[in-house]
Amino acid sequence: MAKFIKFLIPALIAGSLAVLADSAFALDGDAEKGEAVFKKCKSCHMVGDDAQNRVGPVLNNVFGRQAGTFADYKYGKSIVDAGEDGLVWNDEEMFEYLADPKKYLRAKLDDKKAKSKMSFKLKKEDERANVIAYLKSFSPESESEVPESNTEEESSSN
Ligand code: HEC
Repeated sequence: MAKFIKFLIPALIAGSLAVLADSAFALDGDAEKGEAVFKKCKSCHMVGDDAQNRVGPVLNNVFGRQAGTFADYKYGKSIVDAGEDGLVWNDEEMFEYLADPKKYLRAKLDDKKAKSKMSFKLKKEDERANVIAYLKSFSPESESEVPESNTEEESSSN
């Protein structure tokens, strides 16, 4: 038992240090890997030039956008309420949202009955970080981390 506790205490300390390190929120996602992750989203979402609303809304310029506001898409009430309460998509919010949209909205609105029209959950943290990096390349208007020098490359790729 004593041995177990000796093991447990450093583990707990290491765990809480990891939490502290995380509090300045920064994702280190890989947009290329995110493109592959986005295949999971494609059955419902489109990005890019001719993107249209499908089961879910278009995800161009989603960063910096108030939640639940893409034109002509019929959102569920909860996400619209969250947007009206001030929810604007950034890395941190989307990272939480993608893990479990319904649970996220319930916590945001402090309402156990809140609902999400998006039933899909993306559990893996690295996949969430990577898909966020990928989506950012379709959000040029946000303060994205895509350096200016990349714009040439992007416009010629189409
Ligand atoms: C099964 C279909 C489905 C899949 C798969 C899916 N979504 Fe969604 N998504 C939706 C729907 C439907 C909504 C609208 C939610 C609402 O109205 O409550 C939505 C909403 C969103 C929003 C909020 C957009 C806004 O304008 O506020 C984001 C961001 C999002 N999805 C990202 C993703 C990403 C990234 C993936 C892949 C990892 C994904 N979704 C996979 C159906 C889906």
